[in-house]
Amino acid sequence: MNSKTLQNQITYQKTMINANLKYFKPSTAKKQKTFLDEITLSLNNKPKSISPKFFYDETGSKLFDEICSLPEYYLYDSEIEILSNIKTDIKSYIDSEIHLVELGSGSSIKTRILLDTLYSLQTSVEYFPIDISDILTHSTQELSSIYKDLKITGIIDTYENGLNFIEHYDDKPNLVSFLGSSFGNFNPNEGIDFLRTISAMMKESDLFLIGFDLKKDESVLHNAYNDSKGVTAKFNLNVLKRINTELNADFDLSKFAHHAVYNELQGRIEMYLKSLCTQTVKIPDVNMSINVLKDELIHTENSYKFSISQIESKLEKASIGINKIWYDSRNYFALVLGQKI
Ligand code: AVI
Repeated sequence: MNSKTLQNQITYQKTMINANLKYFKPSTAKKQKTFLDEITLSLNNKPKSISPKFFYDETGSKLFDEICSLPEYYLYDSEIEILSNIKTDIKSYIDSEIHLVELGSGSSIKTRILLDTLYSLQTSVEYFPIDISDILTHSTQELSSIYKDLKITGIIDTYENGLNFIEHYDDKPNLVSFLGSSFGNFNPNEGIDFLRTISAMMKESDLFLIGFDLKKDESVLHNAYNDSKGVTAKFNLNVLKRINTELNADFDLSKFAHHAVYNELQGRIEMYLKSLCTQTVKIPDVNMSINVLKDELIHTENSYKFSISQIESKLEKASIGINKIWYDSRNYFALVLGQKI
């Protein structure tokens, strides 16, 4: 292991797994609000809420993968369909050797489609996944065993710090990808801030590929978030299990139900945990009792759905120009290729 210090003063520890695979992780992690601090605060708020970022423990990540394989969850298939069809088209926007940067850890087939596209253009490829979670170490080892020559540099940090790291890496352009409609889980202000951060970190020659879930028939949306096998319900309820396990709380999962509705005015699916009775939940470690009324809703996620004009306006606010928008055959999903203007 050795280390690297960036202009923004973050010192990274480097871990070499093999000649082609390495990770960088900040050696002095900035003190972040702990899980306990955030949960105790948000469950005491009115209305009560739990941040969707807490869905993704090991079980939650597996359940999310399961959601992606459900026929009702069209988002995954639609984006794969687009990515598979644009391999030739996307090449016309790439005129020199380019790195692949992925915001989020690339365990999925989508990363492989993008890598295959780049390999058909250039002899060597460097891939930089950026993810706040150590999960990145697993997904990249799998990828490394499939693409023996692929140079992988994983950055275990925030997207902003990771992009700052790459900005100073070399002069080659980057294809920065943010797939899966994760953008839809930001609230509108966070979303604009996120795009502005990306834009500020991008070189003029960089490309930005981002997925957006589109507005559509409400019944399609309803079924995607209320699947018939109940996987989304398990995914939602799992966050309570996580709070029980990690924070020693006593949520009784049988006394809560998954509740997902489309709010047309806001253009978003809203996900909640609905209390089936009046109850008290205890977190003894912090001497806390949470009173929950029958039918009270604990908000767990928003998933925004966009029109093309909303997408255009958001990107414009972040000084990102649109090179091309691709759609799937059902017009459910849009993949946008943009560039800093
Ligand atoms: C990760 N994100 C894009 C998913 C979504 O559709 O908003 C999370 C999810 N929530 C319920 N199902 C899937």
